[in-house]
Amino acid sequence: MKTFFSELGQAVLTSWGKENFSLKAFPNIATKILQECNPSKNIELKALQKDFLLNNNQLQQTNSGFGQPELIVFHHPRFYIQVLFWLDGTTDIHQHAFSGAFHVLSGSSIHTEFEFTETESLSSHFKIGELKKRKLELLTQGKSVPIRAKDKLIHSLFHLDTPSVTVVIRTHNDALETQLNYLPPCVALDPTHSDPLNLRRLQLLDVLHASDDDEYADLVIQMINSLDLETAFSVLQHTISPLTELGEWKNVFSHFAKKHGQMATELEASILEESRRTKISQMRTHIIDSDHRFFLALIMNSSIQSEILDLVSQRVKEEDSIETVIAWLCELIEVDDFSTSILNASFPEILDLPQELQAEQMINVARQSLLGNKPEPGSDEELILQALIGSSLKPLF
Ligand SMILES: [Fe+2]
Repeated sequence: MKTFFSELGQAVLTSWGKENFSLKAFPNIATKILQECNPSKNIELKALQKDFLLNNNQLQQTNSGFGQPELIVFHHPRFYIQVLFWLDGTTDIHQHAFSGAFHVLSGSSIHTEFEFTETESLSSHFKIGELKKRKLELLTQGKSVPIRAKDKLIHSLFHLDTPSVTVVIRTHNDALETQLNYLPPCVALDPTHSDPLNLRRLQLLDVLHASDDDEYADLVIQMINSLDLETAFSVLQHTISPLTELGEWKNVFSHFAKKHGQMATELEASILEESRRTKISQMRTHIIDSDHRFFLALIMNSSIQSEILDLVSQRVKEEDSIETVIAWLCELIEVDDFSTSILNASFPEILDLPQELQAEQMINVARQSLLGNKPEPGSDEELILQALIGSSLKPLF
């Protein structure tokens, strides 16, 4: 085990040295060596875990909270190699202050790449622009991907298996710049930027909400009217869920829109999308089947039905992608005393249909829509389709 990573590190050191340790050359060198050495074929995960648990002769480890956990398996002043375990992780959309490459040692992930065009920089930690998806792919065991620093690689990973394990060859830090996260479609911010006053205000708002304070929404409105754009944005990000529950979101947001005009509309799109992504991400805690997680990853990262069905086809090979999606929807149906739902799409309460028939009706509507058959305007089927479209399943319909 140690020999493998030691040889991997030496191979990187030798190749990179020949390129005068050029940072620009490093991602390609690291990727090529990962492809040639192929840790997924040569590392037995169980043996690696056992060695780390039982053998005291280990490299110095870090206090890093990145990975679940991170193990350091090679160290050099210019770069290091880490093995990262992921249990329930979906990463934020992020860039890097380092460069190198990563390799899927075990498991598989949905990998999405983006590009960001900045239009306005409110500060070094809050920028506005346009985030566009560049690529959506299934990364299977053995795949290696270069990591280029700063905005040369903006990406997110949705791990499908538990655990998913990656090997990363990386520099310590290429630059002392901030490492931004992105909220599609238009915001970039520094997640490490801390404003203690704002943090305490958000926590105090939580206290008011938890104690059912009548003035909660009104106080949020007053904050929005009196505070700066960036602070108001973080207040809205933090309060969207309770305000939606209270039926106050539209009213509160109208004050933000009145004050900040067109920019407010763009920022609302990012707040709504972030909220949608968070809801899907939270579903991972009780959805653990890897096919279902794959499905969640697709509806989180794609808004295009054909792209989703295409990736489903790649995963299930000869099976019909529409029927596969329908089978997953059937497996995800939940029925309790009060409602029938698929993820967060509930059968419309207004329709008078016995509960034992509701699941079947929702699936029929989903199938017809996927086949391109739209329901009659004003029909029950149209109402059911609206419920599906109004949920996290929207990208499918
Ligand atoms: Fe990354």
